Amino acid sequence: MPDFPYERLRRRPDVEADNLQAHDATDLFLVAHALDAGADGTQIAVIGDEYGAITLALTDAGLSGVRVHQDLATGRRALTLNAQELGLTGFTSHELDRTLLEGARLVLLQLPKSLAELEEVADAVARWAAPDAVLVAGGRVKHMTLAQNEVLGRSFARVQPQRAERKSRLIVASAPLPVPAEPAYPVRAEHDGLVLAAHGGAFAGARLDIGTRVLLDVLRDGAGAAADTVVDLGCGTGALAASYALAHSDARVIATDRSAAAVASARETVAANGLGARVTVMHDDAGSELPDASADLVLLNPPFHLGSSVHTGAATRLFEAAARILRPGGELLTVYNSSLGYRAELARLVGQTEQRRRTPKFTVTRSIRR
Ligand SMILES: C[S@@+](CC[C@H](N)C(=O)[O-])C[C@H]1O[C@@H](n2cnc3c(N)ncnc32)[C@H](O)[C@@H]1O
Repeated sequence: MPDFPYERLRRRPDVEADNLQAHDATDLFLVAHALDAGADGTQIAVIGDEYGAITLALTDAGLSGVRVHQDLATGRRALTLNAQELGLTGFTSHELDRTLLEGARLVLLQLPKSLAELEEVADAVARWAAPDAVLVAGGRVKHMTLAQNEVLGRSFARVQPQRAERKSRLIVASAPLPVPAEPAYPVRAEHDGLVLAAHGGAFAGARLDIGTRVLLDVLRDGAGAAADTVVDLGCGTGALAASYALAHSDARVIATDRSAAAVASARETVAANGLGARVTVMHDDAGSELPDASADLVLLNPPFHLGSSVHTGAATRLFEAAARILRPGGELLTVYNSSLGYRAELARLVGQTEQRRRTPKFTVTRSIRR
């Protein structure tokens, strides 16, 4: 294994805790694979490098010109801060696009959670990387499925899973296959006049999530109708932002998410509904670039998974963000799985909170910023 100070890497501004590391065994195997292959840094692209461990270890090993794509705004920030602390430069950050992959002969991938995201990445590599490109995808064995091999097999003629080591496994995909003229993503679907567009990594795809529907019903019944400035916090494909903007032509709506796949999807959704002039989409962590007390209404369907482990800290961060962004007297409408019982926490962090709707599965609350 290369001699790189992995333990010095940090996750901030993402949640930090003693049992949460900023690297894993898969990162180490991917780095070792690239170094063994003797690839030139300018021909390496890294995708899904959570806090920069892969990119920084390669850069530290003397490879220059490595390209990296990270989905989360938090991961991008952590990579920048980790690079500064270690005094490492010479890599470049990209969206999941042609600039990331053109001329790349070795693509290192931390396997994403969803098959749709993997499908979009595999297509992008086959579409834009060099004709002899090799994609090396790695993950924790307990999260890996045979379906991942099948998805890779749609874009590569050879898919070879390697022997598992230290609970991680690499899959080597080579011989990219011809791609369709147009990428399959973003996919689109219409729901009663609302068009949703979704990249592979976006929550719920182009479907309208059941919880989102319940919050939309509450809005349709008149909640939050008088707001001038509305924030869809953790906007995903932009379903809440676009619906609100369609129903309230005077409102200024901001949709914000920490995932680049969500942001790209929300931008497509906004354009597909002709709302470009009234909805602004921002890639940001917990709305950190929005001024204090600047919103009349925040719409929130918070996540309850952090990575693959259940972790309510992610929702708490968004409740705190909503409290900061709302003006005193402003409203927060939150939908959540009823089993999570967020009401007391919302009352504590935001202000007086009442239940507005309850279905067998979901609860919608209205909190007034104190
Ligand atoms: C349950 S989905 C809801 C998406 C969308 N609002 C809807 O109702 O369909 C939660 C969203 O919150 C985003 N998210 C999670 N933590 C975040 C954070 N710290 N800052 C911004 N967005 C975040 C996720 O990326 C995801 O898109």
